[in-house]
Amino acid sequence: MSAQSATMNATSIDLSVSVAGVRFANPVIAASGTFGYGSEYSRIIDVSRLGGICSKGLTLAPKPGNTGVRLVETPAGLINSIGLENPGIPHFIEHELNSMLSLGPVVLANLSGSTMETYVEGAALLDATDVPMIELNISCPNVKAGGMAWGLECDAAGAITAAVRKATKKPLVVKLSPNAPHLVDVAKSVVASGADALSLVNTFQSFAVDIERAKPVFDNVTAGLAGPAIRPIALRMLRDVVLGVSECRPDRAGTAGFVPVIGLGGIATWQDAVEFLMTGASAIQVGTATFANPGAMEDIISGLSAFMLRKGYPDLASMRGLAVR
Ligand SMILES: Cc1cc2nc3c(=O)[nH]c(=O)nc-3n(C[C@H](O)[C@H](O)[C@H](O)COP(=O)(O)O)c2cc1C
Repeated sequence: MSAQSATMNATSIDLSVSVAGVRFANPVIAASGTFGYGSEYSRIIDVSRLGGICSKGLTLAPKPGNTGVRLVETPAGLINSIGLENPGIPHFIEHELNSMLSLGPVVLANLSGSTMETYVEGAALLDATDVPMIELNISCPNVKAGGMAWGLECDAAGAITAAVRKATKKPLVVKLSPNAPHLVDVAKSVVASGADALSLVNTFQSFAVDIERAKPVFDNVTAGLAGPAIRPIALRMLRDVVLGVSECRPDRAGTAGFVPVIGLGGIATWQDAVEFLMTGASAIQVGTATFANPGAMEDIISGLSAFMLRKGYPDLASMRGLAVR
């Protein structure tokens, strides 16, 4: 135990973090598409303990999602082909948003779309609500039009970010695709175009074969891999982006020019979360792990706090980015 930790107790650990001016009580956020609108889980866990909740990907018009098989388990992961099934942004605003806001954690509306016009119109509708933050999803691999296509190249990613930026004054997190061949360049492009923060990664493009039918398993042919299998690669990508965009300044408190990055991809335990935070993440998201253990995020919050007490880290800034170089 360090000298500092000897004078600290559990209540003196500060887990709060500010991302683009929005204060989260702790850095643990439910990832989009894996936690419904939050209230679905409120009979199973204490949802109010979470730092934040991302909504399911929202499009302007309702989407029925993909046909056929939608989920396949792999030895250390989950391939999904949901295809952004959602009730549409007007329905979300009218029927889901208020109850989501009443849960307590920061709500991030995960904004998806096909054309630039649908993204912009969706952003304008969300701008007129009380939602505190928008996560712009330019990384969904499971739709034929738009989605990930916007996040693969710098010019398209910059253009969609700039257009959405004009449509809303809300703090804007842009969610990046690990499938972009030049991820750091895409990250720089969206920051230059008005992103306040970044989140990464969405799922990795993958493929599975139904050997009995000798055909692809998924009607949409390819689908997105998530879960523990992707974690070390997601962590390396986080490091690349943090070094490329935030430059992991020695002053980690969040000075002007600092770009907060939210890390995710395979996080299942508090140890995983610490790895992401020490690689420069300001906050983390948990997706697939919740399916196997609905209490995973609560366990991560408790474990993180105990670790910080044991190691003498009074707050997240004192730990952020320590291992990045
Ligand atoms: C079933 C499922 C649905 C998802 N839906 C969305 C979505 O609507 N929007 C989005 O940005 N990401 C979506 N994702 C991606 C997750 O938010 C997350 O980026 C990815 O799963 C990696 O994190 P994980 O390994 O902790 O699951 C989905 C993932 C899964 C498994």
